[in-house]
Amino acid sequence: MNKNPIILGIESSCDETAASIITENEQGMPTILSNIVSSQVDVHKEFGGVVPELAARSHLEKIDLITKKAIDESGIRMEKIDAVAATAGPGLVVCLSVGLSFGKAMASSLNKPFIAINHLEGHALSPKLNSELKYPYLLLLISGGHTQFLCVHGLGNYKRLGTTIDDALGEAFDKTAKLLGIEFPGGPQIEVFAKKGDPNKYLLPKPIFYKGGCNLSFSGLKTAVLKISKHIKTDQDKYDLAASFQKTIEEILYKKSKIAFKEFKKINKTNKNKFIVAGGVAANKRIREVLTKLCKEENFETIFPPINLCGDNAAMIAMVGLEKFKLNQFSELDCAAKPRWPLDEDAVFLKGAGIKL
Ligand code: KG4
Ligand code: ZN
Repeated sequence: MNKNPIILGIESSCDETAASIITENEQGMPTILSNIVSSQVDVHKEFGGVVPELAARSHLEKIDLITKKAIDESGIRMEKIDAVAATAGPGLVVCLSVGLSFGKAMASSLNKPFIAINHLEGHALSPKLNSELKYPYLLLLISGGHTQFLCVHGLGNYKRLGTTIDDALGEAFDKTAKLLGIEFPGGPQIEVFAKKGDPNKYLLPKPIFYKGGCNLSFSGLKTAVLKISKHIKTDQDKYDLAASFQKTIEEILYKKSKIAFKEFKKINKTNKNKFIVAGGVAANKRIREVLTKLCKEENFETIFPPINLCGDNAAMIAMVGLEKFKLNQFSELDCAAKPRWPLDEDAVFLKGAGIKL
């Protein structure tokens, strides 16, 4: 086997078309040689959310150019690539199919192994791109489609400790932003608005704050924001509502992470407790500050991916590819896209009315 494998990663699960080349240095640390992300924000803006068919068409139009750019920027000759890793799920099936088929075709034409990747595992391993990270660790995954606490025992080995029972956190940010008249995707802009507002102006609910262990819920919060947003008159009111929303989220994450820490300690008997926060919402600076403070209080080491690796990218997909490559975990070329693909396949599905917590 090549001493320093070179992996091409491809990502197209939602509205980012991305390709990346990574390798390892002599010390075994991953090195990003290129990381190209093309966002489709302009395609979906006027619809206020991702339109699957438009997203798929845009992936189709761009995937070969983005991949070529990633290969060119890496300075690596195409034949030197040792394996191709592409996201196979979860995500929008029409979007997944584009990157998956392209990745398989690349692997087949290069006569190199193909590796199907779980997008969530990409987020879970993304901190490995900039820090030496040993298993096990506690992961809070906060993205546009998922919100979960997981104990990461190793590659492909996850135990879910808690999950959202309704909306994902990124979804709650985006919906709140929409109600405040912010263009899609509004999550990052809420942070900007919040800085100018009074976080104590509106009292918002914190669903299942005192029950449900480290499970989370955000839909009641969204309803409360909807009601208040109808009475908003000035820009300052908008800033105040954004600040109140942001503060409520901070309080929920602080409390639920503290519970998750207890759960994690029951499983992890070593003294080294690590808390990783990944996914698009992990770019939120206030959330980073609050969770860093909690970690100091609870003697956990906290690790965040760099801001540019929090959102969807292909370097994290190549990272999982690299780990799988070293274990000879390859995929067949007829493997299918998986719109639903939980990291912990044994965890109970916890969504919808009537669930018992
Ligand atoms: O991980 P990601 O890029 O895509 C998914 O896999 O879903 O996450 C995107 C989500 C969006 O909902 C976006 O609004 C949110 O992450 N997001 C943020 C921030 N930056 C991105 N939410 C709050 N604050 C931010 N700074
Ligand atoms: Zn993602």
